[in-house]
Amino acid sequence: MAGRILILNGPNLNMMGTREPEIYGTETLADVEKRCRTLLDGTGFELDFKQSNHEGELVDWIQQAIEAHQAIIINPAAYSHSSIAILDALKMFSGPVLEVHISNIHHREAFRHKSLVTARANGVIVGFGMQGYELAVQRVLRLLG
Ligand code: DQA
Repeated sequence: MAGRILILNGPNLNMMGTREPEIYGTETLADVEKRCRTLLDGTGFELDFKQSNHEGELVDWIQQAIEAHQAIIINPAAYSHSSIAILDALKMFSGPVLEVHISNIHHREAFRHKSLVTARANGVIVGFGMQGYELAVQRVLRLLG
């Protein structure tokens, strides 16, 4: 086994499919998880795919990833714009960290333009819809390969 990749999703992303479909589309997080798993088939990497509406739970999972995972892909959702705790937790993780935003946050309200998490991200994928997660998985495979 080559290792483990963690995909983390922040608040309200469990509602994908019905949440503001004009912005986020109609695919669900389960659809995305399935496609990411397919991409990892045969690579030797295992995937843990999680979502939480709670900042502390996301911090706990990032701390656990320090020992358990080789890379983190994270869409911190609204916490992107406010959470120093998530940034600090990611700073303790030594592997690649890729940040994903489904929408183009730079075309939206001014308060979404800045993500605190970007200070730790090795790369950011913005505005590619749910496909952004697959692009992030491909990038992680390149970085770890
Ligand atoms: C988001 C953008 C955030 O501003 C928003 O709070 C989200 C989703 C995105 O993926 O486009 O919940 O991270």
